[in-house]
Amino acid sequence: MKILKTNRGLQNNISKERNNKKSIGFVPTMGALHDGHMSLIQEAQQGCDVVVVSIFVNPTQFNEKSDLEKYPRPIERDTAMLKEHGVDYLFLPSTTQIYPKNLAPTPKINLGQLATTMEGEHRPGHFEGVIQVVHRLLTIVSPDQLYMGQKDFQQFTIIQAMLNQTNLKTQLRVCPIHRQDDGLAMSSRNARLSAAAKKKATAIYESLMYIKNNFMTTGRDQLIKEALEIQKSSGLDPEYIDIADGHTLQSLTDLRKAKYVVACTASWLEGIRLIDNMILRKEDEY
Ligand code: PAF
Repeated sequence: MKILKTNRGLQNNISKERNNKKSIGFVPTMGALHDGHMSLIQEAQQGCDVVVVSIFVNPTQFNEKSDLEKYPRPIERDTAMLKEHGVDYLFLPSTTQIYPKNLAPTPKINLGQLATTMEGEHRPGHFEGVIQVVHRLLTIVSPDQLYMGQKDFQQFTIIQAMLNQTNLKTQLRVCPIHRQDDGLAMSSRNARLSAAAKKKATAIYESLMYIKNNFMTTGRDQLIKEALEIQKSSGLDPEYIDIADGHTLQSLTDLRKAKYVVACTASWLEGIRLIDNMILRKEDEY
């Protein structure tokens, strides 16, 4: 695995790969890697000849300074994991490589209502930061395929909107949520939970399963009320649970009509914010 810290170094290597007609798959991360990231990497290895992984803890997407400071950065462990999984290039840029002084502004993306609900409502400015860094990384790496996880449902929806509105040639591939055996969705933030909290956090999955198992027979308000109760009774402090249209991300009132339905939640435990979601119905299943 080659480790590159500059844009030019990475781009030189990618140009050589392209001259040899290799396709490029890209997995952007903020490090603290886990099996969920490894499943994205495996998908990328299956779909492309060469796989680039970036680790960059992007300051512009954190709306709380303390969250940015506490974000785990186990770089040696991450590097070893990536080597073991046969990644071709690890891109480890500094902040000045990503955001040099003379950087042109990110193109304006019209997100409509996509960023006004759920994460957008509770983390002001977060998606502007995500768009900024992903656009920048795609400009540097220019991959054929971009691999992102379903766990950040609103994030991948917004990145797809960005790809639709820019002339970037990359295609987005969304990979399923990777869960532990007890249902807890894999997340870099889990590393900061105590062993006891990791057990409690499985109530997030249980609350989503409750919604999934009952959404054909129970109304929205009752589903959300019960699901909030499942989380609270395990000691979680839920910020929101929403049942939304999977395309528009707007709350749904009549769950029987929509063709793409997703339940999304964010919940606090031991001062750590965890997010998860579950697709309840998707049109191509019809
Ligand atoms: O999902 C993440 O880890 C980050 O939001 C991303 C896409 C790497 C951008 O910083």
